[in-house]
Amino acid sequence: MVTLKDVFVKGYVTAYDPSTHTIRAVIPGRDNKTTGPIQILEKNSMSTKHQHPYSIGEQVVIIFDPESSNLNEGWVLGSPYSSVDIPPQTSPTVETAVFSDGTVVSMDTANSNLSVNCPGTVTVKAETIRLQGSTVTITADTLGINGTNTTFGGSSSNLNINGTGDVVVNGISLVSHVHGGVQSGGSSTSRPK
Ligand SMILES: [Fe+2]
Repeated sequence: MVTLKDVFVKGYVTAYDPSTHTIRAVIPGRDNKTTGPIQILEKNSMSTKHQHPYSIGEQVVIIFDPESSNLNEGWVLGSPYSSVDIPPQTSPTVETAVFSDGTVVSMDTANSNLSVNCPGTVTVKAETIRLQGSTVTITADTLGINGTNTTFGGSSSNLNINGTGDVVVNGISLVSHVHGGVQSGGSSTSRPK
């Protein structure tokens, strides 16, 4: 008679193949036998696809076909947390993904804060990108804006450039340019036309 213990089995990943999204696992409850490639169940696999890689040594729960004694006839249901592999956070209002390089994507519904913290590069590519907020702050050592047509505008727009730097247009410095055709002296020129 097949029991639930025969169907739901704990194992430890020994290999992961992303091209087929399968793992092999060693099964302590089956004399430490190693399975063949076993499919990992995901939310979707057709036009919408999800893929979550598994780490070597990660504990998984596998459901085996009760009609088969073949250790390939199974599916990975998921990976349980344990006293060794603990959840990354303890708030009941936070949904998060923590990656092996330290990247964290986190959503806290208690304060509606969505955060992406990535030690590498974040690339956002789209036909149209809109950043909209009552305050938008960009902080960078180097800030580059590359646009064929660049407009700074608003209903009552002011552009303030602080600091001790300069604005240079076509090689002409806003801070230190001079005007020809005027006599040097104490007078000021009139406002630009
Ligand atoms: Fe001028």
